[in-house]
Amino acid sequence: EQAIEGDFRCPIVCVLGHVDTGKTKCLDNLRRTNVQDGEAGGITQHIGATNMPLDCIEKRTSFVKKVAFGDKLDIQIPGLLIIDTPGHESFSNLRSRGSSLCDVAILVVDIMHGLENQTRESIKLLKKKRCPFVVALNKIDRIYEWKSSPHQDVRKTIDNQKEGTKNQFKKLYDNVYTQMAVEELNIKLFWELTTEEAGEWIPIVPTSAITGDGMGNLIAQVIDSAQNIVGKKITYNPGVKCTVMEVKAIEGLGKSIDAILVNGCLQNGDQMVLAGQQGPFATHIRQIYTPPANKDLRVKNAWVKHDRVKGATGVKVVGRGDDIEKSLAGMPMYIARKDDEVEYFKGELEEEIGDALDAIRTSSEGVYVQASTLGSLEALLEFLRTEKVKYSNINIGPVNKRDIMKASTMLEHDEKYGVVLAFDVPVTRDAQELAESFKPPIKIFTANIIYHLTDMFEKHLKDQKK
Ligand code: GTP
Ligand code: MG
Ligand code: NA
Repeated sequence: EQAIEGDFRCPIVCVLGHVDTGKTKCLDNLRRTNVQDGEAGGITQHIGATNMPLDCIEKRTSFVKKVAFGDKLDIQIPGLLIIDTPGHESFSNLRSRGSSLCDVAILVVDIMHGLENQTRESIKLLKKKRCPFVVALNKIDRIYEWKSSPHQDVRKTIDNQKEGTKNQFKKLYDNVYTQMAVEELNIKLFWELTTEEAGEWIPIVPTSAITGDGMGNLIAQVIDSAQNIVGKKITYNPGVKCTVMEVKAIEGLGKSIDAILVNGCLQNGDQMVLAGQQGPFATHIRQIYTPPANKDLRVKNAWVKHDRVKGATGVKVVGRGDDIEKSLAGMPMYIARKDDEVEYFKGELEEEIGDALDAIRTSSEGVYVQASTLGSLEALLEFLRTEKVKYSNINIGPVNKRDIMKASTMLEHDEKYGVVLAFDVPVTRDAQELAESFKPPIKIFTANIIYHLTDMFEKHLKDQKK
């Protein structure tokens, strides 16, 4: 295989922004899915990846006659790989992980709220990476007397609004314009941009994820930025570039890695070199899966099995042994196709492993923490640190007897730490019974929103003092 000029891979598009601005809803609208409705508390707590093929993009942009450059949208890319990130404060690890891979970003801003804390945090990440982005100025349907018309260019839809509605839009837009200027960013409504201004000015696309207004324009604008600003960067190249995004236990599959394959291809039987909690290690690929088109990798789907996949794509990889459960997220996955490459890649990983280990470093005493994925575990630990709650042990997957045994060792240190905080994981009956057999019993707190776990622990501390 060779790199051919003009042979584009899918650009990686990361969706960033403050909590509840509508990131997941925007993707739901584009994919015709309803992931957001199924999220606990309506908040995103895991990173997502969706392969959006060309035919879907063509359908959604068919009415967009004119984008910023040229008269017709000339699509040269094979599709988009879209990464959804959480907007909640504690998940800066996943925002940083998502943005570190992206070629183009969509920054979602709630037009009613303007810029918020995690909007600014996201802007910082994007500036640091010099990553071009498009702003979706979302929830325009909430403007007084808004008349929706999702199958036409949003510019026309705005033109056709009543005077009062147009004025309110203008007022809200001006507010965002001023706030962006404070961040030293120049924004312009996408239809006002000229070719010369591309790359310097940030295009704004007014959208509604609920009615679909502006969604076609948003995709068109993203494709435009990908092809015209980062064109060179998205050329397909056979050299493998892959990053581990998540480590999870999947019922029936065992421990798996969710990865973003940016470039090159992965094959069954390939030898992976990964960063692990005990240092770099090598293991073989047993199975490769991708989500079906337009479905999110993080949602339990009819995942499609492959012998070989080509970047860019979101993949789920199962290893031959169970050792991949020790993998660290945010780190590269190297593929050693020659024997001497294993040691070489281990050396490369050795240099980068420090920061990733810091995110999960434990104390000698504290609670036992368990989560469904490494990313949410890290976020939970980050939250515990800010709340000054100590933790002594961590694990991914269902709470088993083995976890309770480990947690019970804390009873000798300090009874208040005889606690398991379990996020988004089941507790086996055996584990529950074992926990109750201790004196005092091991408390298992379960929740599907990470913030609820510390509330439960705080209450436990108060009850103990009584
Ligand atoms: P996090 O992932 O938790 O950071 O949130 P998010 O940015 O993904 O936002 P989400 O998609 O969860 O939407 C938050 C809320 O806003 C939900 O109740 C949505 O129904 C609502 N919402 C999203 N987009 C729109 C929109 O365009 N118009 C209106 N009226 N409501 C919207
Ligand atoms: Mg979301
Ligand atoms: Na939300």
